[in-house]
Amino acid sequence: MTAPLRSSDPITVGVSLGDRSYQIVIGRGLVASLGRKIAALRPGAKVAIVTDATVARHHLAAAEAALAAERIAATPITVPEGESSKSFAWLETVCEALIAARIERGDLVVALGGGVVGDLAGFAAAVTRRGLDYVQVPTSLLAQVDSSVGGKTAIDTKHGKNLVGAFHQPILVVADTALLDTLSPREFRAGYAEVAKYGLLGDEAFFAWLEANWQEVFAGGPAREHAIATSCRMKAAIVARDERETGERALLNLGHTFGHAFEAAAGYSQRLLHGEAVALGMALAAEFSARKGLLPEADAARTRRHLAAVGLPTFVSQISGGPPGIDRLMELIAQDKKVSRGMLTFILLRGIGQSFIARDVDAAEVRAFLIEKLAERC
Ligand SMILES: NC(=O)c1ccc[n+]([C@@H]2O[C@H](COP(=O)([O-])OP(=O)(O)OC[C@H]3O[C@@H](n4cnc5c(N)ncnc54)[C@H](O)[C@@H]3O)[C@@H](O)[C@H]2O)c1
Ligand SMILES: [Zn+2]
Repeated sequence: MTAPLRSSDPITVGVSLGDRSYQIVIGRGLVASLGRKIAALRPGAKVAIVTDATVARHHLAAAEAALAAERIAATPITVPEGESSKSFAWLETVCEALIAARIERGDLVVALGGGVVGDLAGFAAAVTRRGLDYVQVPTSLLAQVDSSVGGKTAIDTKHGKNLVGAFHQPILVVADTALLDTLSPREFRAGYAEVAKYGLLGDEAFFAWLEANWQEVFAGGPAREHAIATSCRMKAAIVARDERETGERALLNLGHTFGHAFEAAAGYSQRLLHGEAVALGMALAAEFSARKGLLPEADAARTRRHLAAVGLPTFVSQISGGPPGIDRLMELIAQDKKVSRGMLTFILLRGIGQSFIARDVDAAEVRAFLIEKLAERC
């Protein structure tokens, strides 16, 4: 698996979902062609650009200019940055703004932002006027490799994250890799955890390629496009086979059962970003798999080594403010995944690139494992 050595034409990845199929276009500088792409797809359509305040500061003007160049009328709708915008209150604001901007069926919503904007704008599009089409223009690495693809949209409720939402596929995803240059290094690194996840869950050669080329991915050369395209290809293939997560799509949750518990315990705050929690969760899932005799110890060590090399946390003791207690942790794990008769569902590994859904993991075994990990220092 080798990446092109020179900057190349945009890479297109298809998501095959019958009459809801769409393309993910990946490349440096693509925002400049946003107007052209939208005009080709929806001649005469009006557009509302939903974004957050930080992304607006960096990239809204370029998106507006690209639309203006094709004489596409565009109304910006800006929400505050951060998870708290995935709320009923901001959903209402966005829906009302779409209606006020006279966005009708046949017009388009453009989600310009990270996963928060993508989830909120996508859900607003799903419910406003009983369903508007939308285009994802993901601006974080996490959004480019994960949240913008696959059609899951949602807001949070007081009971938890992503509890009210819809499956609503975009009609196009435009991933401009240059937009990531303004992302903070910490956010970029957190998004990279999801990139590494694709290698771990289903593609050993990609994982090995990342081990050798991750610095280039961070630096922003053609390796970045290759890593994003490879990630999107894998997600697209899984989504095409299991759009509504009745089976295989659950593999995308590798590292997420442990990860979500730590993320929730840290209050979904800057103490532990989602991707950081996923990195820690993947290290733990690998180690737990080794503990059960499913995965060679060397593969668990290799998993941790790569995540640690890029600066992601792999030890519980690295969580700022300290880890939660074992009872709280087990409560959160039980909430995240259905428990039946003391058995939990986890995504485990048989090798690098060989994940599987284990539906019969003994909660007592997980507890004993975590007690040990909570006592460990890195
Ligand atoms: N729908 C799905 O399938 C799916 C999958 C994974 C995650 N998610 C959701 O995605 C969200 C997390 O996404 P995220 O990590 O992108 O968070 P985010 O959208 O909050 O973005 C992270 C931060 O980076 C800033 N930012 C984004 N792009 C930037 C850029 N180009 N330059 C400078 N700053 C930029 C944002 O303003 C924000 O402060 C969560 O709500 C999660 O539930 C959804
Ligand atoms: Zn994730």
